[in-house]
Amino acid sequence: MTADLFDSLAEAQPTCEEIADGAVLLRGFAKPIEDELIAAVREIVAQSPFRRMTTPGGYQMSVAMTNCGERGWITDQTGYRYDAIDPRSDAPWPAMPAVFRDLARRAAESGGYAGFAPDACLVNRYEPGTRLSLHQDKDELDLAAPIVSVSLGLSAIFLFGGLSRNDKPRRFRLTHGDVVVWGGPSRLAYHGVAPLADGEHALLGRKRVNLTFRKTR
Ligand code: SIN
Ligand code: FE2
Repeated sequence: MTADLFDSLAEAQPTCEEIADGAVLLRGFAKPIEDELIAAVREIVAQSPFRRMTTPGGYQMSVAMTNCGERGWITDQTGYRYDAIDPRSDAPWPAMPAVFRDLARRAAESGGYAGFAPDACLVNRYEPGTRLSLHQDKDELDLAAPIVSVSLGLSAIFLFGGLSRNDKPRRFRLTHGDVVVWGGPSRLAYHGVAPLADGEHALLGRKRVNLTFRKTR
């Protein structure tokens, strides 16, 4: 069998790997719609550009962020929160594209969480050397809904730990098109991204873009 045939079979049947209780890794799940996803990211960024936000502790994050949907996640000197308005444009965040909403719903369902209806999508841009330290996603009021995370562009090492910051995280290489879903007993698991290795991606160049879908309330 040729490598090409292997590739197309892998694309046709994304695998579902349980990485923790309530958490799955869907390899290649978003690959079939990569062009639509990237075009949608470009439209979002044209309205609400990537920016490096400041943490309440006064540090500038290395990862640049923007959002789409009814609410967007922001951090500044006063804290972390969801807000309907992009503080930079003073306008609502761009609407969540149907292709995003549909992908998130299908991925959540494959992970065992039917009926996922996200109202927020955080878009992260990683350049070589940037990282996201271990944290919990806990600014959402509805913790019954899962988190759906879509990886595009350069590969990254995703760190997925337990409910305590001290639990040693396991490491998973996420490549273009991979989707991770975590909810239920894993909903408040600590997670992060190791410093991005340099590289060149055919569609996105020297970066990784991650979409995380949330239901905030
Ligand atoms: C996040 O935790 O918001 C992003 C995770 C990732 O980039 O894979
Ligand atoms: Fe997160």
